[in-house]
Amino acid sequence: THVAVLMGGWSAEREVSLSSGRGCSAALREAGYRVTDVDAGHDVAQVLAELKPDVVFNALHGPWGEDGCVQGVLEVLELPYTHSGVLASALAIDKQRAKHLLANQGMPVAEGRVMSRTEAAGSHAMDVPYVIKPLDQGSSIGVFIVREGDNRPPSELSDPKWDLGDEVMVEAFVTGREFTCAVIDDKAWEVIEIRPRTAFYDYEAKYADGGSEHLLPAPIDDTLKGRIQELSLLAHRGLGCRGVSRSDFIFDEARGEPVFLEVNTQPGMTPTSLVPEIAAHGGMSFPELVAWMVEDASC
Ligand code: DAL
Ligand code: MG
Repeated sequence: THVAVLMGGWSAEREVSLSSGRGCSAALREAGYRVTDVDAGHDVAQVLAELKPDVVFNALHGPWGEDGCVQGVLEVLELPYTHSGVLASALAIDKQRAKHLLANQGMPVAEGRVMSRTEAAGSHAMDVPYVIKPLDQGSSIGVFIVREGDNRPPSELSDPKWDLGDEVMVEAFVTGREFTCAVIDDKAWEVIEIRPRTAFYDYEAKYADGGSEHLLPAPIDDTLKGRIQELSLLAHRGLGCRGVSRSDFIFDEARGEPVFLEVNTQPGMTPTSLVPEIAAHGGMSFPELVAWMVEDASC
């Protein structure tokens, strides 16, 4: 089987994707596949049409690679690909609108709304503390927490160089223990508790070696663990995801339940990423995981 690994791209998560992609590509070779690395550019349709791989392993993150666009190209080319399809990808990438859809299916979420970046930059959009997030980015890129005592939103939002979308999500900031859970093969796997070394699980905490501590399995009782697993499956199935997804939660002490942050349809596969760790803990090595994903690919 000839596998083309799509990586890189031109989103703000390009470097993360190169790291995911190189790791997956090495693991696929180890698993015995013939592998071609493709740094995805605007000519990706042409490159793949010429390459004619049997399967495309999508290791892209962020806009264009994770939002249904490249998935649409792969559908048109009739190439089987890993992870979610067009619709689930497009729904999941929009954090606020995905939350709405899932809240209708019983998902506990934080109050929030979509507004123009100008509106969010103007004055306090809601009671502090709150968080401002680009709708469609990952790895905490462009995320700002507005805390008690801050008298205005961050100036980056009104910077003409801002290129993370004209609309942003403004959401009540929930503080508490942070958890993540992977769905692989339509089953929820083990839950990880993330303890960032910094105040929040930002880009540095995510990818610097030792930037955060991962407790696996999370030191929580079976009821909470079961709840997080149930909600991760709800996110995966509720948006119609395929293959592997990873959902992130914060435990809200006041409500006494985990609050959904987002579902990642192209979760990171870097050396510090969570899904490979969860799979390994469940007895599935990294080469086994990527091989399963290739065998599960469809279009
Ligand atoms: N957006 C990064 C890659 C993640 O969710 O793991
Ligand atoms: Mg994410």
